Formats: sequence, C-alpha cells, structure tokens
Amino acid sequence: MTEKTCTILGIESSCDETAAAVVVNGRDVRSNVISSQIDIHTLYGGVVPEIASRKHTERINQVVGQALREAGTSLQDLDAVAVTYGPGLVGALLVGVSFAKALCFAGNIPLIGVHHIEGHISANFIADKTLEPPFVCLVVSGGHTHLVVVRDYGEYEILGRTQDDAAGEAFDKVARAIGLGYPGGPKIDKAAREGNPDAISFPRGKVTGSEYDFSFSGLKSAVLNYLNTEKMQGHEISVPDVAASFQKSVVEVLVGHAMEALDQLGMKKFALAGGVASNSALRAKAREECEKRGVSFYCPPPILCTDNAAMIGCAGYYEFRKGVRSDFSLNAVPNLELGKR
Ligand code: KG4
Ligand code: ZN
Repeated sequence: MTEKTCTILGIESSCDETAAAVVVNGRDVRSNVISSQIDIHTLYGGVVPEIASRKHTERINQVVGQALREAGTSLQDLDAVAVTYGPGLVGALLVGVSFAKALCFAGNIPLIGVHHIEGHISANFIADKTLEPPFVCLVVSGGHTHLVVVRDYGEYEILGRTQDDAAGEAFDKVARAIGLGYPGGPKIDKAAREGNPDAISFPRGKVTGSEYDFSFSGLKSAVLNYLNTEKMQGHEISVPDVAASFQKSVVEVLVGHAMEALDQLGMKKFALAGGVASNSALRAKAREECEKRGVSFYCPPPILCTDNAAMIGCAGYYEFRKGVRSDFSLNAVPNLELGKR
C-alpha cells in the first residue's frame, strides 16, 4: 500500500531570510525559495530588527507565490501550512505567522506552528532520506548552540546549551573585530584556510558543573585582548592566523562536547545542524572524530544549514503526522523553548 501524499507549505521568517518551500511527505523538497536580506543588514554590521520585519512584509507574498509555482502546487493541494513561530525576532516572526494564518483561514487549511531549531535539526532528514531517530545533534547557528538527543520525531532532550554567546554570534563578533564584516562565519571560514590554526593559543571555553554546556564570551574577549595587545606593541596582525586559531578553538569545544555525549550515551549517529554547520573545519573535524568511533555522520548541504523553509516543511510534516495542529491564536514566541508548545 502506498502512503497518501502529504503536501506541506513551509514558511520561515524568524531572522533575515524570507523563505517558503513545498515539501511532500516530509523529505521530498519540490521548491525551496529563499530571499536573503543580508545585503541590506551588511550596511549596518548586523541584523536590524525593524528593517528585517519591513523586508519580510514586502517580500513574503512573492516568495510564497514563487514556492507554490515552482512546485506546481496550488493552495487547494496543500494538506497543511507549517510556519516558524519561535524563537527569533518577534517582529520578523509575526510576518510569517500572520501570513500563514491568513492563508490557512482563506483556504481552510490546517496550520502547524514549528520551532525554528526543530526545523534546523530536520534539515538532516531531507539531506539523508535514511536517517531515523534516535541520534545526537549539535545545533549551531547565529542565535543558538544546543547539544540535543533526538529521541524520536519531535522528541528532544537538551544535553547542553550556550551560557552566553551562540557559536555563530562569536564568529560574527570576531569577524567584525578583525575587519572581515558581516556575516562573519563564512568570512572567517574562508580566511582561516590561509592561516595557521596553531599560531595563537586561545582558550577552550569550559563551564564548571555542566559538562555539556558551552561558553564563548571568554574566547571572544581573549581574541579582543590579543588584538589590542598586538596593536599596542605595534605588531602587525595576521587576519588568517587569528581566524584559523579562533576557529580551531570553537571547533574543538563543539566537537569535544558532542563526542563526549556520543561516548557516554553509546549512540552511533551524529548530525550537525544550523548555519555554523556549514563551517568547513567543523564538518571535517566532526566527520573525522565520528569515523574514529564508528559513528555515522550526517550534515546537510550548506543551503539547508542556513535558514530555509524546506526544513520547516519537513519538521511540520512530522508534527502533522502526530496530530499537532495550531489554531488561529498562534502567536510569535521570541524565546520559545525546544520541545515546548
Ligand atoms: O542558522 P542561521 O542561518 O540563522 C540562525 O538561525 O541564527 O545561522 C546564521 C549563522 C551566522 O552567525 C553565520 O555567521 C553563521 O551561521 N555561519 C557560519 C558559516 N556560515 C554561516 N559560521 C561559520 N562558518 C560558516 N561557514
Ligand atoms: Zn536558524
């Protein structure tokens, strides 16, 4: 017997990407439209929330229309609309949530509110059609750093999280300090390829009492101190060396914690997710450590690591299958916890 086709429109607007995608049966991406605002925010050195909301409002109608057109789908074909309702910038989230509610009301379509991190994790289901829970997932993005056990679809146990800056935030701040600009992650990744990762010894952030938690603010301060000291002493700074040494420190902590969790839990599958998961050094180190342990390694391609709506459509599908439906009181929740509704 063949499974009934389930077509979901995913909508994402939590930060600076307006995105819509059509996903069939959770893993078959029929369209994935992303309208990035990066060029505008680059002018200000970071995301300006008011501008993000305004741009989402200007673009969302066209982005959703394009996603439906490219997939050859009409509103009548949709089984549900899945939309990110948190965490993220409240004004940005509201645009996607309001648009999704209006579509569902007009077309009498079921609505599903999706957690943004659940979306990032789910990008792995699209990238590898054979992946099934349980597995350990490291979610590293501009706003989040979570080490999670994915027990089942939609069932998460958070082992550790950052106590201060997110990994991506640390990349962005250090990039600004060394004059690389926004968004910092990809620029540091590129500069680091020309640098020596052992040139400067930066600290590996430890959090006493919680072995899986992360802390990146000390590392960020160490980089700033290093830059100031070198400048005061009249030394020239090697941007590639700072980038490579900083990146090595972040990668060692991230992968170190993840491998510790895999070893302790005896789990045999590990996945990366979130914007920072497209970092080449992180991918290489995680793959290498997984191979040493006989652990299967999963990582979405970069286009599914950074914010997109295909991942929201996928996460929405698994929520839909469990019977999750949102009503029209669905609201944006900027600090939404993973695993909470
Ligand atoms: O997942 P994402 O698109 O948005 C959030 O949900 O936050 O992640 C964006 C973050 C930014 O901080 C960006 O600098 C970082 O991901 N990033 C990277 C790379 N590509 C994007 N960080 C390190 N290396 C990269 N190649
Ligand atoms: Zn994200």
